[in-house]
Amino acid sequence: MSSQVSDIAMSVAGAIDEDRLWANLMAMAEIGARSDGGVNRQALTREDGDARALLIGWARERGYDVSVDAAANLFIQRRGREAGQPVLIGSHMDSQPAGGRFDGIYGVLAAFETLVALDAASLETRHPVEVVAWTNEEGGRFACGCTGSIAWSGLQPVEDFLGEVGADGVILADALAETLAATPDVPKRSLGGGAIAYIEPHIEQGPVLEAGGLQIAAVTSIQGLRWYRVDIAGSAGHAGTTPMQGREDAFQAALRSVQALNTLMDDPADTVRFTVGRINVEPNSPNTIPSSASFTIDFRHPDADVLADLGGRVERCVVEAAAPCGVTVTETSTMAPAMFPEPVVAQIEASAGALGFGVTRLPSGAFHDALFASKACPSGMIFIPCRGGLSHHPDEYATPFDCAAGARVLAATVAELAGAAPR
Ligand code: GLV
Ligand code: MN
Ligand code: MN
Repeated sequence: MSSQVSDIAMSVAGAIDEDRLWANLMAMAEIGARSDGGVNRQALTREDGDARALLIGWARERGYDVSVDAAANLFIQRRGREAGQPVLIGSHMDSQPAGGRFDGIYGVLAAFETLVALDAASLETRHPVEVVAWTNEEGGRFACGCTGSIAWSGLQPVEDFLGEVGADGVILADALAETLAATPDVPKRSLGGGAIAYIEPHIEQGPVLEAGGLQIAAVTSIQGLRWYRVDIAGSAGHAGTTPMQGREDAFQAALRSVQALNTLMDDPADTVRFTVGRINVEPNSPNTIPSSASFTIDFRHPDADVLADLGGRVERCVVEAAAPCGVTVTETSTMAPAMFPEPVVAQIEASAGALGFGVTRLPSGAFHDALFASKACPSGMIFIPCRGGLSHHPDEYATPFDCAAGARVLAATVAELAGAAPR
């Protein structure tokens, strides 16, 4: 990779149609639309299925090849002169329960627009160019986030995830089977197979680009993460008659645990990220002492040693704080930090520069499917600004211009990686 940006690459970037991309984004935003302007399109739900069906329809109208693997990762291929590994581009279509209109789906639709731009510019490519929509990136419903890209990368077999119970009580195996059954006419393909490169466009989900008046970040790395579920067993009793002394109140034990974890995770440099995002109490009645409580921990850091050290102290911290209640700590997801290869970062940066966009390099605080794809092939990411740095929020917004800018940088980068040439 030589970081060149040829006239051909510039012509594909020029063929990106801002209005078409925006119209596609807004059409997808209607699927799972919330009354507050956001989107609830969680993984492997009916809404996720509807989004898949819409994308498949658009792909078939344009004559692209559609296929799906055992993890329900959806692929749309524009063939190359040569068969073999593709240049893979995309992101995810699932959302948070109170998600926005751009997280994930923007990357899939920017990738799809790149295929269309190659057609519009009358170019062929040496290698196939393939859009991917990965399954269950968010982890909001099934806590094993990035299920699809982990399975595709060969890091864990999809079977490892099948028993996962969703936040709504549905088993992942059933939801996956239902999603696959909804598109019986889509050809099945084997999991994996690798790629020449994987490039994922995404909103930044942070404030840096907007604050700097920049359009593009070439992403250098993704910080690592450890997720846990903490289950605390207490003892139910009457709220009015049971003395305070000697109670085994599972919610109070959860409170003590979270306070102890706050102390453990305290970081004056503000590099550690620590979030308790979900808490459940049983029997959840105002006048019964809680018999059980559970909560989630989302802990992130760019340094693998800190993840190992602090993460290794979570269980003991919680067990001590929750006594006399019993505790089970389950690690539900582990993601090691990833560095993207310099040639990919440089190619994205060069494409953005050649197109006249303000560009910088940024690490990612959020995780992405690119973290796992990077274990199987050279990978990189393109960030565009989002208003106020807001994400995982119904008000998430990116301008049509910035959405198109990210797609143009992707298109130029793909043209170089896939060997675009006049037909
Ligand atoms: C991705 O959705 C993340 O939580 O980083
Ligand atoms: Mn995302
Ligand atoms: Mn997200």
